[in-house]
Amino acid sequence: MTAVAGKIREVRSAVLEARRRGERVGLVPTLGALHHGHVSLLRAARAENGFVVVSLFVNPTQFGPGEDYESYPRPMEKDLTICRQEGVALVFAPPTEEMYPAGFATTVHVAGLTEKMCGASRPGHFDGVCTVVAKLFGIVRPDAAYFGEKDAQQLAVVRQMVQDLNLAVEIRACPLVRDADGLATSSRNQYLSARERASALVLGRALAQTRERIEAGERDAASVADGVRRLAGDEPGVALEYVAVVDPDTLADLERVERQVLVAVAAKVGSTRLIDNLLVRNLGD
Ligand code: PAJ
Repeated sequence: MTAVAGKIREVRSAVLEARRRGERVGLVPTLGALHHGHVSLLRAARAENGFVVVSLFVNPTQFGPGEDYESYPRPMEKDLTICRQEGVALVFAPPTEEMYPAGFATTVHVAGLTEKMCGASRPGHFDGVCTVVAKLFGIVRPDAAYFGEKDAQQLAVVRQMVQDLNLAVEIRACPLVRDADGLATSSRNQYLSARERASALVLGRALAQTRERIEAGERDAASVADGVRRLAGDEPGVALEYVAVVDPDTLADLERVERQVLVAVAAKVGSTRLIDNLLVRNLGD
């Protein structure tokens, strides 16, 4: 049975009961509009926890002016069906005032990691993410929380926050999930027209080719980035925002690819902003 809570005190009492039963608690934070990528997180959480909490909350503080906060999809019934099918114990879907009551005054800011890549074009975005994720950790107090490598910078930022604030939660990373045609699965893909979607596929193709080049021995970071730029930059209708070749943990720019590398891209396809990435670890093993 999947319970649904809109109030923080309902979450606290359900989690307390689960703990009394001796259950381990896992949290999957989401904006809702659940898809296969989210489902992979739910399954990872189910595999490790008797009691899985999913938050469905379109968090206003992480959307900038002119971004898609109002139009972001909110298919509540469909999301609940997926949560039921996946054995989620508790769905937390709070109204905005429950998370941000009048007088709310705190922001969690992780310096450094948030200034580049997506942070450069979305000022304040990661402050909104960190603030809501810290709140969710405080509300649910999970043993473990599950994040996707699709949002590789978000994952690095959340890890830094957890370390710096000594939060007692294990952060679990789940691999990026793609649709059958190679497009990184995202709630925002539904904004794409058929033609835009066909153009957007260049991102996955460019990253797949980059993986092959790295596996074949390419180690020069500038050449890796140029390869992505050349391929994706030529696609009509795709405006690359950045190509980053960085260490996946520190997000520091690399000159040479050594044991691990994150190649991350962001692009506008029509008016839709998409991100995608390639993560390679344990190179040379
Ligand atoms: P949202 O975009 O809904 O994503 C929720 C989680 O699902 C994130 O950890 C994200 O990385 C993961 N995810 C999304 N698409 C994925 C894919 N194709 N493969 C693997 N994982 C994927 O990220 C957020 O929400 C918000 O910023 C949130 C953390 C909930 C804070 O509001």
